[in-house]
Amino acid sequence: MLFPRPDYAKALADQLLSPSGLHTSVRSGVFLSNIRRVGKSTFLRNELVPELRQRGAIVIYVDLWANVNRAPLDLVLEAVRAQLRELQTPGSGLLKRLKGMGLGAAGLTFNFQLDTLGQPGGVTLAQAMHELVQKARTDVVLIVDEVQQAAGPAGHALMAALKAARDAVNGDPEAKGHFLFIGTGSHRSLMNDMATKPSHPFKGAVTAPFEPLPQDYVAWKLDQLAADGVRLPSLEAAWRGFQTLGHRPEELERALGQFQAAPQGSDAEFDLICATLAYAAADMEFARAGEIGGELGELVFARIADGPEDGTRELYGQAALADYTAAQGLPVEVKQVQTTVDGLVAANLIARIGHGRFIISDPYVRGIWRQRKALTQALRAGKPVLDAGEKP
Ligand SMILES: Nc1ncnc2c1ncn2[C@@H]1O[C@H](COP(=O)(O)OP(=O)(O)OP(=O)(O)O)[C@@H](O)[C@H]1O
Ligand SMILES: [Mg+2]
Repeated sequence: MLFPRPDYAKALADQLLSPSGLHTSVRSGVFLSNIRRVGKSTFLRNELVPELRQRGAIVIYVDLWANVNRAPLDLVLEAVRAQLRELQTPGSGLLKRLKGMGLGAAGLTFNFQLDTLGQPGGVTLAQAMHELVQKARTDVVLIVDEVQQAAGPAGHALMAALKAARDAVNGDPEAKGHFLFIGTGSHRSLMNDMATKPSHPFKGAVTAPFEPLPQDYVAWKLDQLAADGVRLPSLEAAWRGFQTLGHRPEELERALGQFQAAPQGSDAEFDLICATLAYAAADMEFARAGEIGGELGELVFARIADGPEDGTRELYGQAALADYTAAQGLPVEVKQVQTTVDGLVAANLIARIGHGRFIISDPYVRGIWRQRKALTQALRAGKPVLDAGEKP
């Protein structure tokens, strides 16, 4: 069972298909990112795609993780071919749906051979998309999930082809619709780069966070479980826990599962279960930083986590090097720090958000990290450590 999010789907569809004068930049492309396991793909497939289709758009959805052994461009071309084939087929379900938009049931005819799409000497993606928009007289939305897969050299051909398609359609004042591109994924650094770096074809595209599930989802989840006679925390505690767990449905379920064995079944116990699960997640990220960059990896990760939220904590300066050196008991050089930082970025443990600015990729891990640090310091100083919400 899925919690429905029609409002979010409608809002996004509005912004994409009918942007107000101030927001036409969505036609340059949109990158939506958020951490893993928050429900991005579920929302795209089950809510956004149907909503866009219902409004008459032709929607092509491609998941670049569906087969990581294939070139990103090939996966997209295959999806496009499949969609065009269906539009050519008389009586296909897709045609019936678009019939209301004034298309005959006979199927579209294209002035090119589908099999040649993207082949040397064949029709290009840009030509095909332009013709599709003219023939179908509607918008085409291409959604690429796990788009960070295309951030590197292997994805350049895809992004260049998509840019050419975008410019061919949206740059033509006679075009009968728009070509809209949405990329989603969890690797914030790479996706930011794709929308900002001059070397990337999609420089200038819009970036925005993918909205995580709201409090209503938690209420809905509790209602469902209440019907099964399961023991539940209050809505307030469940929502607090869901946030602690980074808005991840699977983690909330795990916490609710553990709650069944709690001695009293109090909200305070549920808070503790969630905090413990979240600590474990933060520990795992820290441990991975150590696997990737050794002790220096841990030091850099901790330095960023302890630094300000805007990522301006200095990582390479004299003071930083002195700190690493003191902690390791060995002299540390800038080059080593650079290698370590690159490794942490590649693993999506930290994200580069601007020149020399780095943040912890998962904002919840940073939150937990700081919470625990405050707790440890309070313990050391002999201060009471109970949270206001936790009754003794
Ligand atoms: N609306 C929803 N209602 C209930 N459960 C949901 C909903 N959306 C997502 N989930 C659950 O959350 C989990 C993660 O969902 P999904 O795979 O869509 O996330 P994702 O952000 O795409 O993750 P990844 O970064 O791994 O691709 C799944 O178990 C899914 O069933
Ligand atoms: Mg996904």
